[in-house]
Amino acid sequence: MNHAELRAEPGAAAAKASGLEGVVVADTRLSHVDGERGELVIAGSRVEDLALSEALSFEPVAARLLSLGRAEPCRDWRAELGGARVAAFARLPRLSTSLSLPDAMDALIAATAQGCAGSDPITLLGALPVFVAAGARLRAGLPTLAPSAERSHAEDFLTLLGLPAHPARARALDAYWITVSDHGLNASTFTARVVASTGADVMPCVVAAIGALKGPLHGGAPGPVLDMLDATSGADPRAWLEREIAAGRRIMGMGHRIYRVRDPRAFVFERAISRLEQEERERGGSSAISARLAHARHVEQAAEALLSERHPERPLRANVEFYTALLLEALGIPRALFSATFAIGRAAGWLAHIEEQRRVGKLIRPAARYVGPLESLP
Ligand code: COA
Repeated sequence: MNHAELRAEPGAAAAKASGLEGVVVADTRLSHVDGERGELVIAGSRVEDLALSEALSFEPVAARLLSLGRAEPCRDWRAELGGARVAAFARLPRLSTSLSLPDAMDALIAATAQGCAGSDPITLLGALPVFVAAGARLRAGLPTLAPSAERSHAEDFLTLLGLPAHPARARALDAYWITVSDHGLNASTFTARVVASTGADVMPCVVAAIGALKGPLHGGAPGPVLDMLDATSGADPRAWLEREIAAGRRIMGMGHRIYRVRDPRAFVFERAISRLEQEERERGGSSAISARLAHARHVEQAAEALLSERHPERPLRANVEFYTALLLEALGIPRALFSATFAIGRAAGWLAHIEEQRRVGKLIRPAARYVGPLESLP
């Protein structure tokens, strides 16, 4: 028997798409990404309008996403979410082994698996910032801090980390979480939908999604972006970037599967960072943000120029992670927590997609083409 004689799994001959690029696998009401024009619509609104609105926080955007996923009218569950944070705090004593794992994403995966079995979406969404902050405090040898149902999600997370949480800072974190709340069928959202399509309950869908987000090609890039900004500080970035490429490494925070122009989320974060800096100054605080921002723009331009020389056929521009790194750094969030902080915001999209997939009610199960050995066993 040879490979030509094998009957492929149904559909396998149709496409050997690399990384499923361009393959549409779901209809969604949750977000739309236009990679050619650099536009992103979340829950029916342009990302810039949502994230830079003075009036909006993460909660109503998450509520709108979830209600769209459920095809139900939107309701305000801010108080329930606050209650979910408080309830998650009460569960911390039995999660300390999971939360103390050295890597923040491993700790979040383990604590969510252990602490959210059987949870509904809002209970789980409320638990994530509590677990991320508690893990960070435990790993640093510090006591955990108690959440308050009265605070907003963003204000509470900053407080739980022991960081200042005045409104300008909470607004910057809201802008971040709103911006990353959903983004089409990215790898972690697809993962969540695959698990949901098997009929699994909410927790394993989210645990699987956090796992997908951990990788540096998805949500793990912002920490390395800051490492790059540190490494190129005070020097010409071109030489450093060339060394990275020559060593076979990718430039973190650059390139995207969908966008062929600059990621619109990078613009939102630049605006949010500038606004935060201005507000910090008005409060009388000193800030190194603008120098960091200027350096980041310089590195971005150098990386874009170098990558366009190497890949003239494929525009590789700054992606969401590039300026995520700066925004989260400006908030004083440790870089080891960047991916986990991303997960808290993206969980709104995951949960909405899980609900949407449930309503589809069809197992996601693509096909494979067998290219393995064809030998008779002795
Ligand atoms: N630095 C250097 N080269 C890059 C690159 C980067 N950041 N991104 C893509 N390329 C190159 C690849 O090496 C490849 O070149 P080759 O064909 O000569 O091997 C080509 O561009 C196409 O890359 P590919 O991996 O096929 O594209 P993709 O659509 O699958 O990748 C990303 C998208 C995001 C995974 C990719 O751009 C990347 O790895 N970026 C860096 C990590 C990052 O910032 N992740 C966060 C994403 S939001």
